[in-house]
Amino acid sequence: MSQSSPSLVPFRAVDAIRNKRDAKEHTRQEIEQLVSSYTRGQIPDYQVAAWLMAVVLKGMTRAETAALTEAMLHSGEVLDLSSLPGIKVDKHSTGGVGDKTSLVLAPVAAAGGLLVPMISGRGLGHTGGTLDKLEAIPGFNVNLVLPEFLRVLRKCGCAMIGQTAEIAPADKKLYALRDVTATVESPYLICASIMSKKLAEGIDALVLDVKTGSGAFMKKQEDAAFLAELMVETGQRMGKKMVALLTDMDQPLGRKVGNALEVEECIEVLRGQGPDDLRQLCLDLCGWMFKLGAASASVEEGRQRAAEIIASGRGLEKLREMVRLQGGDARVVDDPALLPQSRHKSDVLSPRDGFVTAIQCEQVGVASMMLGGGREKKEDSIDPAVGLVLHKKFGERVTRGEPLCTIHYNAEARVAAARQMIEASYQIADQASAAVHPLVHGFICGTENEGS
Ligand code: URA
Repeated sequence: MSQSSPSLVPFRAVDAIRNKRDAKEHTRQEIEQLVSSYTRGQIPDYQVAAWLMAVVLKGMTRAETAALTEAMLHSGEVLDLSSLPGIKVDKHSTGGVGDKTSLVLAPVAAAGGLLVPMISGRGLGHTGGTLDKLEAIPGFNVNLVLPEFLRVLRKCGCAMIGQTAEIAPADKKLYALRDVTATVESPYLICASIMSKKLAEGIDALVLDVKTGSGAFMKKQEDAAFLAELMVETGQRMGKKMVALLTDMDQPLGRKVGNALEVEECIEVLRGQGPDDLRQLCLDLCGWMFKLGAASASVEEGRQRAAEIIASGRGLEKLREMVRLQGGDARVVDDPALLPQSRHKSDVLSPRDGFVTAIQCEQVGVASMMLGGGREKKEDSIDPAVGLVLHKKFGERVTRGEPLCTIHYNAEARVAAARQMIEASYQIADQASAAVHPLVHGFICGTENEGS
């Protein structure tokens, strides 16, 4: 890759699209110009959409990926949090269905003494997004300006916002465009998107939750491992402590899918209840956050610390505080019935006796989107109340006529297609499958964490 040297040829987006279409390697300068011109509104969406599709199809070299990540990082401010006492640690997931751990982790890690300056995204493709979930809480403001974000962080130890005009603005625009142009599934674009906003946060350490399975963007474990390595390497190059856990997304995480429903399930976990898989994954990820943030000597000790914080109610109290400081109705933490509720519910019944042997997880995510839980076009608004409650997951016995899932919906016109999708996504057989689905398939970490 040639370095950025002043070019005599003016930048034209069409040349960048053609270069990538023809599998040529971009120069660093070409990438910087593309990102800065798009962020400033000087290139239309349709040209950038074409370029994104060319990247999905032709890939990028490591040097191009590094240049893209850095150009997106420097599209806005890079926070300097050195004046705030405490170690700054964050977690980010590559995206899944029912994947809601951030709403548990940020308050628990903050209650355990870490600072968590979390910049998240909206729903992407068939997956849900933390910002859309937070906005299900009446009044919650995910668009805090920088001084306000820092005020909340200083006061309660965690703050959760989206990319803004000030922080990671390139990702804000590219993310929204990728969501509706089928250009999410590229490890290079995912790496640049995640790492640019995480590096802009001014963190010391980052725990990545890289999903693999039928509901993940990286369906195969080797692709997930490739993405994890790319991100860990990028973070380490920038001096951050890094770990990536490869975790299961062959079925939704927890039992609830949909924005308000997922907030409710996180509150259940913070109350010491909730589904076991969600609780266990939160403890694993938080164990790593405490370890990387030097708040525990080992991951296991960090896990125990997280469990104690939940049991004592301090995690729930921290969520209450953050919601209040970000303008939300904190009463939802004690009374989740105050969250938006759908007008109608309808069960999807099992067509036969047997055991659940597979759930097409991506289809479950698409069904939730179709109900109004996600976007088909950039300007679409989200219905926070809709979604799904899964009564049956892998290995569980069902009898004919028993509910597999309850659909929460508002628009009658959308429910039939979502129902069909859910019916098709469940596989039920006479015998339980012998396949095992570990929650955590493995982890990839920097040398300083080996043996954790
Ligand atoms: N999460 C992000 O922030 N970006 C992606 O591209 C995928 C998941």
